[in-house]
Amino acid sequence: MANNCTENPETTRQLIAQYLNSDAALQKVHDEFIENTLTNYYLPFAVAPNFLVNEELYALPMTIEESSVVAAASKAAKFWLTRGGFKTAVRGTEKVGQVHFMYFDEPKRLESFFKKVLPLFHEDSKTITQSMRKRGGGISAIELRNKTDELDGYYQLHCTFETLDAMGANFINSCLEQFAQTLKVEAGKQGISLEVIMSILSNYVPNCVAHAEVSCPIGEDGSKTTVSHEFAKRFVQAVAIAKSEPFRAVTHNKGIMNGIDALVLATGNDFRAVEAGVHAFAAKDGQYSSLTHAEIKEDHFTFWIDVPLALGTVGGLTSLHPLVKLALEILKNPTAKELMQLVAVAGLAQNFAALRSLVTTGIQKGHMKMHALNLLNQLGASEDEKVQLLEYFKAQTVSNAALKKQLAEIRNNK
Ligand code: MEV
Repeated sequence: MANNCTENPETTRQLIAQYLNSDAALQKVHDEFIENTLTNYYLPFAVAPNFLVNEELYALPMTIEESSVVAAASKAAKFWLTRGGFKTAVRGTEKVGQVHFMYFDEPKRLESFFKKVLPLFHEDSKTITQSMRKRGGGISAIELRNKTDELDGYYQLHCTFETLDAMGANFINSCLEQFAQTLKVEAGKQGISLEVIMSILSNYVPNCVAHAEVSCPIGEDGSKTTVSHEFAKRFVQAVAIAKSEPFRAVTHNKGIMNGIDALVLATGNDFRAVEAGVHAFAAKDGQYSSLTHAEIKEDHFTFWIDVPLALGTVGGLTSLHPLVKLALEILKNPTAKELMQLVAVAGLAQNFAALRSLVTTGIQKGHMKMHALNLLNQLGASEDEKVQLLEYFKAQTVSNAALKKQLAEIRNNK
């Protein structure tokens, strides 16, 4: 298939060069994040202001390509600003890793071998864990798990860790590879036949969970401190639908991830790890379901989320990427626990904004207004035309066809 790169190598060269930073040192920082870097790939870096979280005001930095997300988060933040804001907590910070191995002999023999070598796992990994231990973290537990009911001969060392302000992937994987080594060496010495298959952290962290909630009395329509009964009822119903129907739950949770990913990405964290863990958590009861919950109780409306988040505010890109440093500064240089709570808030706020639109006006009205600029850019509208059309469409329904028609009209009238 013909492709522009080979047809117009000069244009391609220019495009690549245009996105490179003129500051060679800064460019080198970015080049070296990954391999075979050609250039930089921009995404917008924005802030959503007015988040009152545990009585403290925050602006949330967000990196995302989708129009409306930042506006929606900001709207939700403003809505809850006069209704008590967001309350958050951390439910746990346990990280997980596993050494997967095969063993086909007597389970009892393996169990007594494991008991004997358990102190050695700690001993042999001392140099790896030294600095983490000094700061109060390290290995929390190492357990032998018999998984032979699921897979013939399959056992694991199921290990848990406290990695403090680091996401901890490298720390965990280094510990696990050392455990695997100790396991092999000691098994060899004692004539136990086992085969280590692999050692790797798990991105499923159901005990590393942040909680965020909003709550207010039910009152008059239009009040700035309450929500109306009709709204609360429809909202709770919408959450109930997402709880019972996977087709809806996936989209419902996708909206939550709009907020979560944007903040996770802005702070240089691994959004694929978070995504994988969050969706596994959403299916933990056997059916994929809503991550958020809502109820009306004693004339009070409460809406909350519990979400697993393995995040770091040190290590990784945090000290390398200048915009990640800025994002963390905007968040008042949070600890990993604080960041987990703010990310849970971003997810809850995003879901609130989406459901609020969905159960009232529908989302397209607001979404198409935000998207209008993208469409106008695609249509090649000039700055002047954009100003005129955005003004015109403040009071009109936005659609691609309507924008095209109005643009043609402006051009015809010139
Ligand atoms: C769009 O990115 C996200 C929504 O579809 C979420 C939802 O339906 O709840 C609006």
